[in-house]
Amino acid sequence: MKRMALLFLMISVFGASTYCDSNPIQVDQNPLRWTLRTQSSVYQMALTKDQTLFSVYYGAANDFDPARGSRLSPSMEQLNDSLEVPPRGGFVSQVPALEIIFSDHSRDTELVYEGHEILQEKWPTLRVDLKDPEYGLHVSQFYRLYPEMDLIQKWVEIKNHDDQPVQIENAQSGSIHLPAGEYDFYHMSGTWGRECNLQKNRLTPSLQTMQVRDFRDFNNPPWFAIGTADRVSETEGSVWFGEVEWSGNWRLDVQMNHGGSVQVVGGINFWDTHWTLAPGETFTTPRITYGFVTEGMGGASRRLHNYARNVLMRPLVKERLLPVLYNSWYATTFRVSEDQQLALAAVAKQLGVELFVIDDGWFKGRKDDHAGLGDWSVDQEKFPNGLQPMIQKINDMGLQFGIWVEPEMVNPDSDLYRAHPDWVFHYPHRKRHESRNQLMLNLAREDVYLYLLDSMTALLRDHSISFIKWDYNRSLSDAGWPCEDPATQREVRIRYIYNFHRLVTELEKRFPEVLFECCSGGGGRLNPDNLKIMDQFWASDNTDPLDRLKIQYGFLHAFPAKSMVSWITHEDWNKTNPSLRFRFHVSMCGILGIGNDITQWNEAQRREAAEYVKLYQEIRPLIQHGTAHRLISPFENPRAALQYINSDRTEAVVFQFNMQKASSTTQEPIKLIDLHSDKEYLISGDFPEQTATGEVLMNQGLAWVPKTDVSSALIRIQAK
Ligand code: DGJ
Repeated sequence: MKRMALLFLMISVFGASTYCDSNPIQVDQNPLRWTLRTQSSVYQMALTKDQTLFSVYYGAANDFDPARGSRLSPSMEQLNDSLEVPPRGGFVSQVPALEIIFSDHSRDTELVYEGHEILQEKWPTLRVDLKDPEYGLHVSQFYRLYPEMDLIQKWVEIKNHDDQPVQIENAQSGSIHLPAGEYDFYHMSGTWGRECNLQKNRLTPSLQTMQVRDFRDFNNPPWFAIGTADRVSETEGSVWFGEVEWSGNWRLDVQMNHGGSVQVVGGINFWDTHWTLAPGETFTTPRITYGFVTEGMGGASRRLHNYARNVLMRPLVKERLLPVLYNSWYATTFRVSEDQQLALAAVAKQLGVELFVIDDGWFKGRKDDHAGLGDWSVDQEKFPNGLQPMIQKINDMGLQFGIWVEPEMVNPDSDLYRAHPDWVFHYPHRKRHESRNQLMLNLAREDVYLYLLDSMTALLRDHSISFIKWDYNRSLSDAGWPCEDPATQREVRIRYIYNFHRLVTELEKRFPEVLFECCSGGGGRLNPDNLKIMDQFWASDNTDPLDRLKIQYGFLHAFPAKSMVSWITHEDWNKTNPSLRFRFHVSMCGILGIGNDITQWNEAQRREAAEYVKLYQEIRPLIQHGTAHRLISPFENPRAALQYINSDRTEAVVFQFNMQKASSTTQEPIKLIDLHSDKEYLISGDFPEQTATGEVLMNQGLAWVPKTDVSSALIRIQAK
């Protein structure tokens, strides 16, 4: 009777589907269970009689039955498929999230409930404490809610209260369980110059693992989505999605059992890695962010865009519009000089550029990629006056100045390597594998950390630098740390990533106004963890606008346009000779940049480019701070379209691209998204000026404008 009354009260307070802002974390007794609510989703977990924590539900708020958790008493088989923190121990049908070796060599972990606490933090956060009944191992699973963004973030803290160390062989950040069903799995793949290719496959009963053993990976950002099979479009369908927040070697496992239920678990990839936890110490995993929406793939992306812009990105750039930049790499490569950079800067200023960036080649001995990395002083042969007089002149033109660095690397032909050959990753009796003629510094070492902190500090202190392009151009190999205590040697990957974040964070503390761009020979380091310390991503070295459309379309699934730098250059990988206008339109879909040798442009080209820059500056708030809708996928059609709209839905910009011969492209109108049905909008830009209601634009659509081969249109939509 008492239980019935409680149930009635719960239903009347929360309803079966309502999101209750004031109480996103609800705790109920008998059995003890926790219900976490976001706007569209509910997550519930509960305790069995023997105090084991298991997952009850994760999915649509509308489909959630609040009474379900109180009725459940899972059989052993069910329980083995739905443990919240599945350890290696007992039966092992789930992918283990925790694998420990105790000091007595036992490899079996058992976790029972110890307590919980709702933390009073900016975002509603729950900590559930578990412990091993026999050993002093305490494991806390954290749940942080971003209710308006429909996200639930997980991470784990492991504490050793024994008097002997324990070995952590694997510690994942958190699992979720999807109800039994038929699902499609989405992820990205790629290679250098072909980043962010979308992939989709039907999930079958099996284990699918995505794992990165490196610190960079062109194959995939640590992003996934799982949608109800054949029911998901850009705008409709149930989608579970997420991303691992770890700049280094990460892993995601998706396991479907024969009944069709699915476990997703992710975090650090512990391949060739372990961690020794001494008595009294704590190990905290990075975070994994999960989400659920019923608004299809577009809905999932928009949640991640909001999360990136509002939570991940530095406060410095949250409100700020990121500048239009010029980067001289494609114009000059390593052959840089003061006069030539000043000449480029003068034209860049004429075009309306706001930030001028010198790329590789400015530092000591850097004639090509065979020498110089590691010696972060100015090359006196190329810049006999040093850099500051040139920077001053560039600043006097009204441009900010930025510079390229690749701090984590060293060329064997450098003073640094000659002095400290032991500072690189290596094994004593093995070849040191070079890539792009460079070796990798072992940033896990404190002396390497301090050297880089000092040299980057000196560079920023002695020059008026507003922007750093932080490159990283090779893959990890030979990950040895021979002089270190053997137990610590296999912690090297984790310690490296800790110090990488520590280094950039400390530089940002010392130079709070400097912007950072994350580059890795293109998009090798696209990771939400990097967005906490870097303000924008260089998505690819491929600047052919046709390929870029695909790369950018994929990129926008995981990251916002505000983090996507896109330069126009002269490159033409597809031999289609795209116009300046087409190139600009593609690059305007992110943070606009220019990379051509603009000193070679004639007056007409400069005037045309200046108009595009000015137009971009007008629409920039929509691109960088608005909501992005993918309208037509370049993966499915030889055409593509994107829409960016402001938060009060009174202003939008639409890009349309013909990617091949116009004759092979359908000319169907495209339906816009999220306008006010009853408002009149003025349509302008590359469109005969006219008005239409939001209803017409959303239901009948906007006419397809580009009519010629490899052509584009930028159309503005403004409420009257
Ligand atoms: C790779 C980057 O992706 C390029 O933009 C350029 O900075 C080169 N490195 C310079 O070496």
